[in-house]
Amino acid sequence: MSAGPHGPLVLQDNILLDELQHFNRERIPERVVHAKGAGAFGYFEVTDDITLFSKATVFSKIGKRTPIVVRFSTVGGETGSADTIRDPRGFSIKFYTEDGIWDLVCNNTPIFFIRDPMLFPSFIHTQKRNPVTHLKDRDMFWDFLTLRPESTHQVMILFSDRGIPDGFRHMNGYGSNTFKLVNANGKAVYCKFHLKTNQGIKNLPVDRAAELASSDPDYATRDLYNAIATGDFPSWNFSIQVMTFEQAEKFRWNPFDVTKIWPQNEFPLIPVGRLVLDKNPNNYFTDIEQAAYNPAHMIPGIEPSPDKMLQGRLFAYSDAHLHRTGVNSNQLPVNRPLRKLTNTHRDGLGCYGDNQNGSPNYFPNSFGSMYESRYGRVSSFGVSGDVKRYNTTDDDNFSQPSGLWNIVLTGDERQRLVNNLVSSLKDASIVIQVVKIFKLCCIIKIR
Ligand code: NDP
Ligand code: HEM
Repeated sequence: MSAGPHGPLVLQDNILLDELQHFNRERIPERVVHAKGAGAFGYFEVTDDITLFSKATVFSKIGKRTPIVVRFSTVGGETGSADTIRDPRGFSIKFYTEDGIWDLVCNNTPIFFIRDPMLFPSFIHTQKRNPVTHLKDRDMFWDFLTLRPESTHQVMILFSDRGIPDGFRHMNGYGSNTFKLVNANGKAVYCKFHLKTNQGIKNLPVDRAAELASSDPDYATRDLYNAIATGDFPSWNFSIQVMTFEQAEKFRWNPFDVTKIWPQNEFPLIPVGRLVLDKNPNNYFTDIEQAAYNPAHMIPGIEPSPDKMLQGRLFAYSDAHLHRTGVNSNQLPVNRPLRKLTNTHRDGLGCYGDNQNGSPNYFPNSFGSMYESRYGRVSSFGVSGDVKRYNTTDDDNFSQPSGLWNIVLTGDERQRLVNNLVSSLKDASIVIQVVKIFKLCCIIKIR
């Protein structure tokens, strides 16, 4: 609305004001890690009976299907960054189970760089921009890694061929952390979750990845969307590794150390089901950007282990969601459970539903809206030990990396791993390079 065809404008044009105001507020904070991603809906289907290990309803019957939403991502880059960079890939799964939401927030690697959550913010800072130059900084990255030798195993996987997967469909997923499964009799075991791609592992050669980073930076997003749109639905086989409490006591490594795997010949993969993605999002923002995955979202039959990194994660994600998607994040359509939400949370910014109408907002109450469930009770376990800050640097950092080098990688794969390392190290300062190369030489000589 203007006073005359050539303006000026009038303040009473509230539609123009609304347009401009809404536009200014279209962005929500991007994820502090895993900002660039893509996702899809689908289902999880049980193919094998594991009720011996877990009472979780998601596993209750062969043939049972549970709806899911999956989000894949890179880790270090901003939301507009290229899909084909060398970086771990996220593989988050939200299961809409009868007992509520179970979020299994995986990566495409079975392990992680560090074993102490205190170091996570520092580690991530080294992959973000230098505070002075605002450039990515190889010195920061390699400085940190050379000072934390527990990162060697994950660094080797990252710089192997698997460091640049060919899109999101051709990679595996791993829960990485150690979890606990509890059966209907209350018996618990430790477990790790694995997802193996049915599309086959495929990685991008370094040159092709670099070329795609400029010609088609959304390569993986496009590949996933187009595959589903044309009916070529990607799927993964879901399996578990199981370790009893007795085995955990005697295991030669700390079974809760996320820088280590559990060898598959000792703890074989037990098949459970398959994951299929068969529906693209209706709207990227509401379905994928607002999806809030939280490792603390578990259902009866699945519990945390003492894994320190998992324990750190149990806090970090819900706090991130308070910042990113708000105090009522769990009410957003993509995040809310299938069944009606029943808790004491009311009001607050962005109250998306009916605010639980007139049901009591306090517990206990005489109206049966909430009750203590024997079924939902967590298993009990004993703890002991002196409270102090333990240094986690030095806990057999090289046996498993040397196993990866000596047993798993072929000659060509080893050569490419070294080439990839060198092409990154050459951008770091000389002192850091020497330290790192020395360390690598030590590992390579272990045979
Ligand atoms: P196994 O021989 O039983 O398992 C080897 C595993 O290595 C397979 O799962 C294979 O995955 C995977 N693999 C092959 N190439 C690579 C690569 N370039 N980067 C990462 N993983 C690769 O041996 P162990 O169980 O004793 O493990 C030996 C080493 O294998 C570990 O130190 C670890 O680095 C790696 N690994 C182990 C896993 C585990 O859960 N035990 C899982 C993934 C990796 P696939 O079958 O899909 O080809
Ligand atoms: C995302 C913290 C370790 C996988 C995130 C986010 C935070 C975070 C704050 C952003 C969440 C959001 O805004 O929605 C941490 C901390 C860790 C840790 C503190 C260690 C103590 C790990 C590990 C894995 C992992 C070990 C893999 C096994 C992911 C994935 C996402 C993510 C896949 C993206 C989730 C999505 O798709 O929305 N992490 N993380 N993280 N993290 Fe972690």
